[in-house]
Amino acid sequence: MIRTILTYPNPELKKKSTPVAVVTDSVRELVQDLAESMYNAPGVGLAAPQVGIHQRVIIIDISGKSEPPNLIVAINPTIVHAEGEAYDEEGCLSVPNYAANVRRYARVIVKALDLEGAERTWEAEGLLAIAFQHEIDHLDGVLFVDHLSTLKRELFQRKARKAAEEKR
Ligand code: NI
Repeated sequence: MIRTILTYPNPELKKKSTPVAVVTDSVRELVQDLAESMYNAPGVGLAAPQVGIHQRVIIIDISGKSEPPNLIVAINPTIVHAEGEAYDEEGCLSVPNYAANVRRYARVIVKALDLEGAERTWEAEGLLAIAFQHEIDHLDGVLFVDHLSTLKRELFQRKARKAAEEKR
């Protein structure tokens, strides 16, 4: 089922998500919905709180249109190692029509549970490393715009307010 993706400044996006205790069928159903919603958007990643479900579940697919899908499902993901620096442009399905450069780690090692509840480890770099950091941030109520400098964030907020007024 395609779910509605919440957008800034919806307060649900600021809430911290709780760990999944056991990977049950309802979690697998949630992942299915997240995948349908992400591919429909389309986007390269989605976190459960973006559809209003505050559980620590993220999905990522950076394979792009030309390649076969390669869905990464990470339940209770944690970054166990991070190094290097990246500064690349990011966007977010919850922050439409806006993109900005964000400082991130260049390489991360992520541990998480998969759909069977087994522990998985990913050594990620490049776009995948950034996607993991971006999606895990969502689980802590953090959006990529929260990483911007005060000046840039204020410009973004002004733009968002203006867009909201125009919609009214
Ligand atoms: Ni996002």
